[in-house]
Formats: sequence, structure tokens, C-alpha cells
Amino acid sequence: MTDFKRYLITAALPYANGPVHIGHLAGCYIPADIYSRYLRAQKRDVKFVGGSDEHGVPITIRAMKEGITPQQVVDKYHAIIRDSFVKMGISFDIYSRTSGKVHHETASAFFKKMYEDGLFEEKETEQYYDEKTKTFLADRYITGTCPVCANPNAYGDQCEKCGSSLSPEQLINPKSTLSDAVPVKKQTKHWYFPLQQYESFLRTWILDEHKEWKNNVYGQCKSWLDKGLQSRAMTRDSNWGIKVPVKGAEGKVLYVWFDAPIGYISATKELTGAWADYWCREDTKLVHFIGKDNIVFHCIIFPAMLKAHGGFVLPDNVPANEFLNIEGEKVSTSRNWAVWVDEYLKDFPGCEDVLRYVLCANAPETKDNDFTWKDFQDRNNSELVSIFGNFVNRTFVLMHKLCAGKVPKLHEDILDATDKAIMSDIQNARGKVETALENFRFRDALFEIIDLSRKGNKYMQEKQPWIVAKQTSTSGQPAADAQKIIDNCLHLCLQLTANLAVLINPFLPTTARKMLHMMKVVDKMLDWENAGKLKLLSVGYSLREPELLFRKIEDAEITAQVEKLKSGLVKPAKITSMEESKPGNGKPEIVYDDFAKLELKTGLVTACEKVEKADKLLKLEVDLGKERRTIVSGIALHYKPEEMIGKQVIVVTNLAPRKMKGIESQGMILTAEDSDGKLQLLTPENSVTPGSNVS
Ligand code: MF3
Ligand code: ZN
Repeated sequence: MTDFKRYLITAALPYANGPVHIGHLAGCYIPADIYSRYLRAQKRDVKFVGGSDEHGVPITIRAMKEGITPQQVVDKYHAIIRDSFVKMGISFDIYSRTSGKVHHETASAFFKKMYEDGLFEEKETEQYYDEKTKTFLADRYITGTCPVCANPNAYGDQCEKCGSSLSPEQLINPKSTLSDAVPVKKQTKHWYFPLQQYESFLRTWILDEHKEWKNNVYGQCKSWLDKGLQSRAMTRDSNWGIKVPVKGAEGKVLYVWFDAPIGYISATKELTGAWADYWCREDTKLVHFIGKDNIVFHCIIFPAMLKAHGGFVLPDNVPANEFLNIEGEKVSTSRNWAVWVDEYLKDFPGCEDVLRYVLCANAPETKDNDFTWKDFQDRNNSELVSIFGNFVNRTFVLMHKLCAGKVPKLHEDILDATDKAIMSDIQNARGKVETALENFRFRDALFEIIDLSRKGNKYMQEKQPWIVAKQTSTSGQPAADAQKIIDNCLHLCLQLTANLAVLINPFLPTTARKMLHMMKVVDKMLDWENAGKLKLLSVGYSLREPELLFRKIEDAEITAQVEKLKSGLVKPAKITSMEESKPGNGKPEIVYDDFAKLELKTGLVTACEKVEKADKLLKLEVDLGKERRTIVSGIALHYKPEEMIGKQVIVVTNLAPRKMKGIESQGMILTAEDSDGKLQLLTPENSVTPGSNVS
């Protein structure tokens, strides 16, 4: 590995068009923060930069929806986002914004240099135009049917359903997002960046020289490169953004994906006069933390820009995460299916580290993952409270009770195999955590730390100092040997606690500081070089009373969150146009393929009971021939449990499982609702074999 002198860590600039949700945190901000804190604890030279992305269609669309100006939009959300990051402990060295002066100058100069070097193609083409609102329809100003997957709501730049990257011309039945008008074609001039000219450079640089990149990142890059790169317009017709610094470009601004990544450079400039050391010297390690939808921009387009401009380092790694779903469903900001960070902070004050913990332990590092409130509760209650917190607390309580509140001596003469084993566990943990962190395996790193505290609990359980203390001598005090055993146990548990503070610090900084307070030591103890040491706390030093590191999270808090999530659901604001909806039927027409996506089977109810604390729900066991499933259904007001047993039902079997009152429902049964609200089961006319197909 090259010896780097400096580390420049970036986390994607979030669009300032709404608050951030936990998917954003899990995707890049938490891993970037852990990594930066880890490097700082190693006393390396680190700059962690970020900021709000304040240009582009996401901002102007939001402005129209809220009836305010784009500037008002970005001012509002920049403040909310920045505040969420501060409270969550995301330790940016600078959190800037792309509407700032330094950024406008930097991005403009970047474009100008490329322009003057003749690196753009100037092209006059016909583009979709909305005559009603007098706007060219690029990116998200235009929707239509995806040519790849037939999703009727694909955008002009991307289909969110299948992930294909698109251009407006590829959309079937295009329509203006602004007015629903059918667009016409109109001439316009733009500056294109011929990406194909950088293809061989990119191939060598990524495919040959960065084989160590994560599989999901490397794979996406390879597939882009294999498909062949094309020229991309780097300008747009708009009046919100950075003016194109070229004559004859009135009414045109830089494409948001041209300006935003340059925001990393501008932010560094604002942070330090020595910015060029970080950006222009080969011994800087540049790492971009992003979500998977940003891979092409950070691995292909921006590096090609940097290369074309010249004089900049390229990213050494781009550890992109996949997506975090919520309770089995994709996050959708338009449907309000998301857990908003600003709201979490209000609902769970003082629990910032718990969210950091859960989002890291369950991070979508190699594949999409699911966040559920139940898992959040379980991880808090059974990992943070019962393992880590419990170990630290027991250690402190027993040290006060059996060792007069001071760090006891270590009696080397009586160390046994169990003591020695925990000593080497302490020494070995550091290497394991380091290897995982250096390879961006944050989940594994965190697991090792929890595992070390688990070993601490086990060690204490084996040593049982509270029982040893009862082996009194004639004086009523523990016998001399017994006291030595107690001393050794608590001495080692305290050194282990100090080690846990050092190791957990990048992940749970507030918790680490609480631990420092209890141990009456200064921040310096958290230096990474202290990890693995067995003499962090001096013998005879008196320590404070324990304070609880984590509190239990109650069922009611979890139920409330799940209900909030479900009740917060807003219907998409989009009004379906007349041809899409057929009269007499509230839903738009679908094609056969949409229907064919449903898997319907017959099932036989073999058991049924009421769900506790839910008067509408029944829990069914359904035999589907090849398998049995548990299904929770809202029919308890209409059917008694005993009535259900033996009934044949129609089951939707490929619906994503969903937790209801803590029970995972693995499907849905079909019912008909009468005008008076009475529900009736749909059931085959005659008996059929369970598991038969329904179509
Ligand atoms: N705003 C973009 C998004 O949320 C990310 C921009 S990252 C940057 O997807 F590199 F362009 F800044
Ligand atoms: Zn698609």
C-alpha cells in the first residue's frame, strides 16, 4: 500500500430539497464519519468535507411545489440538513453549500479551463420543450414510460424502478412534469463532454488498477464501460445554477452533476489555504463515500473531468453503499415512506449513538438491506444495553463494591489461563478492527468490538468476583488470595473498558466520551495507538460512579414509530391524466404484465388466533402445499379464529413480508368489502389442492 501523507474524505452532497433520512446516513454519512474519526484517532492528516447540493432540477421542482423561490428552498433545507448532521455527530471539517461564492468561482473556472482547452463539443440539437411553461425539459422535468422496464413514471435522466440511466429522447409517451403538456422539439445549443475519449484511461485506471474496489462499485463501472461511453451535455437551459462562462450562453447554466462534485474542491478551499496539498499531490488519499445511485458520477464522469482538467488527484477508493429499505419497502420521499433524521432526533433525544449503531451494524454494504423498528429495538436492547452497556456497568459497580472505587492491582503471580485469554483478546481486537476499517467493512469492525465486550461479560461470569468475595477469612474480609482474584478480574475488566472506549469512539463518539468521564481521563486516551494496551488505567486511580450508557427502548416507542410511518403515508401528489384513468375504476389502467407480477395461490387455513393488543388482526397459519406461512390479516372484526380454521383462501404469495405487531406477515389473503364495510373472504367454489395457482 502506498504511504499516504494526507487523507481527503468526502461524503455526497445531499440535495437541499428536503431533510435527510436514515437511508442517507446509512449510505454514506455514517461510514464517512467513522472512517474520518478513525483516521483522526490515528493522528493522520485528515480533512472531511461536505456540503449541500443546491442546484439542479430537484431544487427548482421543490420550489414550484412549495410556491417559493429556489433560494428560499435551499436556505430552508440547508439549515435543517446541517443541523441534523451536527446532532448526529457527523464530524465534517466543513459543511459548505454550492450556492456559495467560492463554489461559483471554482466551478466556473473549472469549466472555463476545459472550454479553453477545447475539451467540449458544442452542439446544436433539438430537445423537448414545454410551450406552456416555456422550458426545455431535461432530467426530471420530463417523465414517460421507461423503454427498459415499462415503468410509466420514469424520468428524463433515470428510471427509478430499474435503475437505467436514460435521456429524454428514450422515453415513450414523454410528458412535461411541469404542466403535463406533451412536449414539442426545439433547437438549443449545449456543451458536451466526450466521455468516450476517456474510455481507455478509465478502463486501465479502474478495471486494472483498482481491482480492490468493492464488488458492487467495480461491477457497475465495468458494465458502464462495457456498454460504451457517450458524449454528455454539461450545460442546461435554466436560470438556477452557475452561469455558463462562455459568450453566447445566456440562459444556460452548468449541469448540476458538473458543478456538484467540484463542490468538494470548493469546500476544501474554504476550509484551508493549503487546499491544493489535498487536491493536487499524489500522496493524498482521496476517498468518496456515496450511495449506489451516485457511482457513475464519482467513478466515471468526475474522474474524467479531473483528468481532462489536469492537475488533480483521482479518488483512491469510492466505497459506495447500496440502499436501505424501510420495513420491507423502498424509501420513497414522495410517498413519505422514510424515517427523517430531524424527526428521529426529536423522538429519541439522547439516542444519537443508538441510531449510529443500528445503521452501521445493519449497513447495506454489499446489498440492499432492511431497516425495521423492531430490529432497531432489538439491537439496542440486546446488544447495546445487555452486552456492551451491561459489561461496563457491572465492571464499575463491582469495582466500587469490591475494590474501594479504585483501579486494583494486577497480581501477575496468580494469572490463570482465563485471565491470559482475555488479555490476548484485548490485544488482538485492535488488529481485527483495523483490518475491517481499512477495507471499509464497517459492520465487521463494529461486530468485533461488541464481540470483545461479550467476551468481557463471559470472563466476568467465569471469575464471579462477587462470589469470591464471600470466601471470607476470619477477619470478615475476603481472604488474601480471594482479594487477589477479585483484583485481577476487575483490573482486567477496567483495562478492557478503556479499550472499548478507544475502539468504539469512531462509531459511537458520545458513548466513548461518557466512558472517559466515568474513568476520569482526558480525550487523549482515545488515541488509536492506545487500543490493545493493557495499562491504560493506572493502579490506585479512583474512578467515578457508573452512569448508564444506554437505556432500554420500550415496545410502545416502537409501535408509535411504526404507526407514524404508516399514517404518514401520503398519496403521490401527481394527478393521473385523463387517458390513464378509465371511468368507474379508481386506478389507472395496467397492462397484463403488471397483473402477471402478482403471484396468487390457494391456501388452507390450519390454525388461527387473535393478535394480542390488536382488535382487528388475526394471525393465520396457511398451508400452501409446498410450504406453510404465517399471515396477519385485518379480519378479526368479521371472522372468529375458530371459524377460519379449515377455510380455503386466496393468498398473494410474492408480497414482501411485513411486520405487524411484531409478527412477520408472509403474504396477504384476499377479501371483498361490501358497501357496509363488511369483509368476506374470497374462496374457491370447490375444494382445490393447497398451493394451486390462481390467475
Ligand atoms: N445531490 C446528489 C444526490 O443526492 C449527490 C451529489 S454528490 C456530488 O444524489 F458529488 F455531486 F456532490
Ligand atoms: Zn425502467
